[in-house]
Amino acid sequence: MILISVGNDTRLIFTDIPYFRIVETIISSSIEQAKMLLKQGQLVAIPTETVYGLAANALDKNAVIEIFNAKQRPSFDPLIVHIGNKSDVSLYARQIPTNAQKLMDTFWPGPLTVILPKQEIVPDEVTSGLETVGIRMPNHSLTLQLLNQLDFPLAAPSANPFGYISPTTPQHVFAQLQNKIPMILDGGSCEVGVESTIVGFEGELPVVYRLGGLTIEDIRNVCGDIKVEVNSSSDPKAPGMLNSHYAPLKPLKIIADDFNLSDSTNQAAIIVFGQFENSTNAQVYNLSPTANYKEAASNLFSFLRMLDTDESVKEIFAFLLPSINLGLAINDRLNRAAFKG
Ligand code: TXA
Ligand code: MG
Repeated sequence: MILISVGNDTRLIFTDIPYFRIVETIISSSIEQAKMLLKQGQLVAIPTETVYGLAANALDKNAVIEIFNAKQRPSFDPLIVHIGNKSDVSLYARQIPTNAQKLMDTFWPGPLTVILPKQEIVPDEVTSGLETVGIRMPNHSLTLQLLNQLDFPLAAPSANPFGYISPTTPQHVFAQLQNKIPMILDGGSCEVGVESTIVGFEGELPVVYRLGGLTIEDIRNVCGDIKVEVNSSSDPKAPGMLNSHYAPLKPLKIIADDFNLSDSTNQAAIIVFGQFENSTNAQVYNLSPTANYKEAASNLFSFLRMLDTDESVKEIFAFLLPSINLGLAINDRLNRAAFKG
């Protein structure tokens, strides 16, 4: 138990987290400031096109350990290494399959993470002891500038407490990590809104471990045959793929077209996609009234957060989207948000 003071507010905090300390969190678009903090081994939340990441020097194992502490993330869940230049991939990975190279050439910078055998220089703390490393070149001008001015890559998981909804605005990050990290680099709202698609390789065969902002159709167009292996277990290949993830604190239930919504009270909210006639008392959150998948993905996590913090909402219902395009990644997140293990 410790006693902390912030301004006039003094509280007792019950914690068994020995590193717990208070810092003032600034939200700023200053690359200089972000650079300074990162060079000191501190954490900075960074914008990407997918979601905000919680970044540290990927080559400094102590800085990387701080990420796990701040997120309360289990150490078995490896981090993605972010680079500012396509050619840097060979500094951190080796034995790059032709299909991996094709995907990177086509979709970087963008919402694609490739899993490749790691170079010695990547600390075990980043990869959770695995012999492979996840690497991605994000598509956000501020973060690309930052990466290109640093002489190290950035390890960054999504900037949310483990298991909770990923942040797509600086305010989302602030709501949960304020006083735990010194800075949030303000790059506005994330354009894509769901995390990167994670692709590993069995020989030349691309294997999708996490559905994300790059669609399966796009990957097929470049590589032809691919395998999709996103179904999780208690010992998943991509440990972030635990069944329950991205979860709001309130109950979320997936419903089908024949579900009788007329019983739902005005304390319920429904997440829908495309044209929808509301014949109930429930509040409707339409991911995209025009059935645009990109718009739906960019709204998903913001909507879940709004619903989770709106006190008038007691339970959340959601319709799944058609299983094409970004509908696959959105459905994956909705299913995991709904999962009660
Ligand atoms: O869009 C994104 O990917 C965002 C932004 C910040 O880049 N990052 C992100 O990181 O979603 P995170 O930590 O929330 O999810 C990364 C997942 C891990 O949970 C793990 O499943 C997988 O990437 N991963 C990382 N390295 C891996 C490896 N060597 N083998 C298998 N899976 C790996
Ligand atoms: Mg995450």
